[in-house]
Amino acid sequence: MKILAIETSFDETACAVVEDGMKVISSVIYSQIALHQLTHGTVPEVAARAHVGKIIPVVEEALSQSQLSVADIDAIAVTQGPGLIGSLIVGVTAAQVLAKMWGKPLLAVNHIWGHLYANFLGREQLPDLPILIISVSGGHNDLVLLRKHGEMELLGQTQDDSAGEAFDKAARMLDLSYPGGPEIEKLARLGRPGQFQLPRAWLQQVPTGLRPKEIHDFNFSFSGLKTALYTLVQKLGPLDAQTRADLAYEFQESVFDVMTTKLFGAWEKYRTPSVFISGGVSANQRFRSLAIEKFNKANTAVFYPTKLSYCTDNAAMIGAAAFFASKVVTDPVLEPDPSLWN
Ligand code: KG4
Ligand code: ZN
Repeated sequence: MKILAIETSFDETACAVVEDGMKVISSVIYSQIALHQLTHGTVPEVAARAHVGKIIPVVEEALSQSQLSVADIDAIAVTQGPGLIGSLIVGVTAAQVLAKMWGKPLLAVNHIWGHLYANFLGREQLPDLPILIISVSGGHNDLVLLRKHGEMELLGQTQDDSAGEAFDKAARMLDLSYPGGPEIEKLARLGRPGQFQLPRAWLQQVPTGLRPKEIHDFNFSFSGLKTALYTLVQKLGPLDAQTRADLAYEFQESVFDVMTTKLFGAWEKYRTPSVFISGGVSANQRFRSLAIEKFNKANTAVFYPTKLSYCTDNAAMIGAAAFFASKVVTDPVLEPDPSLWN
């Protein structure tokens, strides 16, 4: 089954053609990052207007790169939410028009389910279920158990900010540009361990200075870490290059220490054959290597998206989720997805 998928929930205008949920025939992403760097973050109205200008060229390009004709496409899929409403409407309207015009079924996809399925893209073999997935981006921070296709159990999520959001804010404090994740990762490579000590938010009783022996709480919180970094930066005054790198290093360690420890804690409970990390933050090499290190001793494979472009927002992941876990709708806005996270 060949699905033409559209994603416009945030600041990427994207379209892809995906076959049977795993084979990416074409994938086009127009990133608005340059536009949003001017404001150190996304302004919703600016994002929506940029989608309007790009949606038709991006769809045309994805279809042209696929070398397929409209007759070869079996369905249209579109991100229904969550996201910026003005941005979503652009993608949803385009998908509705195409479905009507071409006489194809329309599939509505939850953006977060897209990130969960991003790890299926580009694989030869269907991964065995159940799968434990940590999906972390600018907008969400979830730990879920994929029991059956379309059946997710939410084990934990952030109680305040996502890790991606914390990375973006920390980057601003360290005078780095938007988006902050890749910038902090680059700077942290120059940082020295042990120069600073930032807190780890375990969200469960742990004797001061010690680590939890067993994880009971699979939720996350990053606002305290953000405040701790802010307070430290204020106290230090003007920062030299090495101090900024040391702070970036410790900030990144705090985020990934908690995330990989909680991921492993959940695995000890559910013992899935593999674990997935996904979402924009899964592009981070330190996150990947810490997760792999933790799971090596348990002989369990850690999968991350086969391409960096499948970590951050893209339409191929929407095509994958549509194939495995979506339903046909007439109106994606009026028929909200009753599943989690809407
Ligand atoms: O999935 P995504 O493109 O958009 C949302 O759905 O939010 O994720 C974007 C987020 C941003 O917060 C960005 O800073 C973060 O992912 N990110 C990273 C890295 N690359 C992107 N965070 C840490 N390390 C990275 N290499
Ligand atoms: Zn996303």
